[in-house]
Amino acid sequence: MKGKKWLALSAAAALVVSAAGCGGTGGSAADETDTQAQTGETAEEESGDTAIVLSDAAKNHADDGEEIIGISMPAEHLPRWNQDGNYLKKNFEEAGYTVDIKWADNKIDTQRQDIHDLVNDGVDILLIAAVKGTELNDVLAEAKAAEIPVIAYDRIIDSDSVEYYVSFDNDMVGQLEGEHIRDMLDLENAGDKTYNMEIVSGDSNDKNADGYYNGAMGVLQPYLASGTLQVPSGETGYHETETFQWSTEKANERMTNILTSYYADGTQLDAVLCANDTAAIGVADAIRDSYSGDNQVLLTGQDGDVDNLKNIMDGRQTMTVYKCLPHETQAMYDVTVAFMNGEEIGLDLIQTAGWDFDVVYADDRYSNGTDYMKSFLLTPLTITKDNLIEELVDTGFYTMNDDGTFTVAE
Ligand code: BGC
Repeated sequence: MKGKKWLALSAAAALVVSAAGCGGTGGSAADETDTQAQTGETAEEESGDTAIVLSDAAKNHADDGEEIIGISMPAEHLPRWNQDGNYLKKNFEEAGYTVDIKWADNKIDTQRQDIHDLVNDGVDILLIAAVKGTELNDVLAEAKAAEIPVIAYDRIIDSDSVEYYVSFDNDMVGQLEGEHIRDMLDLENAGDKTYNMEIVSGDSNDKNADGYYNGAMGVLQPYLASGTLQVPSGETGYHETETFQWSTEKANERMTNILTSYYADGTQLDAVLCANDTAAIGVADAIRDSYSGDNQVLLTGQDGDVDNLKNIMDGRQTMTVYKCLPHETQAMYDVTVAFMNGEEIGLDLIQTAGWDFDVVYADDRYSNGTDYMKSFLLTPLTITKDNLIEELVDTGFYTMNDDGTFTVAE
């Protein structure tokens, strides 16, 4: 059995604790009752106080002779999270760890149930990519009671149970998308010329969407303020442009409405600042089906989903911000193992891990709501038709098939 040195890092905690006031910030009492009804096991209510009662496996996880990595992912059916989960699983299993992975079907309550189950299955550490990072406080209190440390993966979690965060620099993702539109339209030298743009933001349940929006607006706001960039729909705010669950269908629906309401008279659409690739598929389809102009519309995205890479080669999307998942999951693996070995988690890890990709260490950027998390932030990369093959295919991350589609390399 490998050593469980991280236990020495935390003060001993009672195995039964009061969790009053630990509910998710946005969660209603009804939500919590539902969750308890679903679990059907350990939670008890005593005059408004919810006592956490842990299973024997949760109480004894440190001494059970096994090191189990608990992974909670948002959804198996979404390309990016499917890859994340499977890369993580593979990395840990190849190193001899047991992995218990659960997928939440993009549902908040399912993820809370998943985490509750992982704790009571007796996992030794929890790696979580949150569906909604503000809704996990109550289940993370269970993890804390069982002395199970938590590392946030890709998405921020609002809970003081979380001290470590591995992700890409979300603000930089937005910045790269804004720069693409600025540079392709040459906004700096536009003079009196004006351009029309629409904005499709991410899901505000996910704090990454916030960082992304701010990063993009940091670049484009001056041109909106000067009038060089116009938004015919008038929708520019974070919430009025958001896309629930970053969904293809929602983005398609909204963009179709915008195109039929504001562009049917022949108004030219020059650019869509679109938060990610799933939403960009919906936008590209809306442009194909409901836009009559024959100009190439600039369309941004993030992730490098295979369908979007094909759209980029076909000219239906003009860029994506590639976030290399093999690298992000490698960083997560190394941070997790270093933590479990009781090593210091900080700047030095970038050296000792020997990563051959860019990672920035920050302890003053992303907060868990109480304190800044020790964060490892990878650097995203702009992909256009010009560098796609060189950066993604020649490097071995994807293969390009004879019919022009792409496959993620194993
Ligand atoms: C991730 C993006 C992803 C989006 C939707 C964000 O939290 O950082 O890469 O496109 O969620 O799944």
